[in-house]
Amino acid sequence: MFKGIDLSSDTATKPSLPMKHAMLEAELGDEQKGEDPTTHQLEAMIAELLGFDQGLFFPSATMANEVAIKLLCEPGDQLLAAENCHLFICEGGGPAVHAGVMARGIPTTTGIFTGDDLRAAYLWNKGLHYPVSKCVSIENTSNFGGGLAWDLASLDSVLTTAKDFGLKTHLDGARLFNAAIKLGIQPKRLSAGFDTASICLSKGLGCPIGAVLALSHAHYARARYLKHLFGGAMRQSGILAAAGVYALNNHVQRLADDHHHAELFAHFLKSVPSIELETHPLSTNMVFFKWVGSHLSTHEFSEKCIAAGLRFSQVGKNRFRAVFHLGINRQDVDSILSICAELFKNM
Ligand SMILES: Cc1ncc(COP(=O)(O)O)c(C=O)c1O
Repeated sequence: MFKGIDLSSDTATKPSLPMKHAMLEAELGDEQKGEDPTTHQLEAMIAELLGFDQGLFFPSATMANEVAIKLLCEPGDQLLAAENCHLFICEGGGPAVHAGVMARGIPTTTGIFTGDDLRAAYLWNKGLHYPVSKCVSIENTSNFGGGLAWDLASLDSVLTTAKDFGLKTHLDGARLFNAAIKLGIQPKRLSAGFDTASICLSKGLGCPIGAVLALSHAHYARARYLKHLFGGAMRQSGILAAAGVYALNNHVQRLADDHHHAELFAHFLKSVPSIELETHPLSTNMVFFKWVGSHLSTHEFSEKCIAAGLRFSQVGKNRFRAVFHLGINRQDVDSILSICAELFKNM
């Protein structure tokens, strides 16, 4: 087990003592029977925050995404999304396996695209020979695109174009609260207009497990059936949902600290000659950089960082990701900066 400062992902967060207390004190029932009050409380909170009729609690954001795609598409349909989105590259081919959809990646390095990009992807293949484009999914923030909050102009143009073409819309909002905090707006401004929206609780919000899919009354019964089909129906899930309720009450506003810590780290990296930093005004809790030093291989660089007590995740040939989260406080940031100052002294 890695013992240093883990910047590889915001999934590294562990439940705090007060969160564990909330879990212990949760009122419980059988979720499969619709009788778990704490699960209902969490689902209602997310529905309210995102402006939907209902929420549905899931063990993971992957399962919530996969159920959403199966809900919105038929086998053979085409699903349009950024080419580097989590749905396409990190869910084990789930959209093909579970929903039988064709994936069409929209070219983008940032994970963000516009209504015009969607129009181009939609229009190139109309006709008898081609799959039917049914749904567009966007990821906010865009994980591998740089952890970026979508700007409102791109977001609105995609939704308008989707509406023009009658496309269904899914929001992979695993880190939607990061985007809302970054833009200083209510999360429901970012989820309005989507058919479904997933939120992950086990990243920057600090829960050990869980995600919620927000949706309309019209979609609820089938989504609940699909959750059962996928093996995601639970029993006394309130013990987990209580962590989510605690996180929504205590861990949303503090995401701004993670964004600030990421900025401090990025500022430091700017001065390291062997590092090529990716910067963007709408970046949040993630810092992406490339190791371009010629005296150490990428593998050697990574090993040196781990030996010094810092773990990043490698997300490309020489591209790394540092993610700031609840488990990293201001003192840790100072430690990170001094470890890096020593580590990068001659680089
Ligand atoms: C954008 C995005 N969507 C979905 C997921 C899936 O989350 P989970 O690990 O809860 O399945 C992740 C996980 O990293 C993610 O980054």
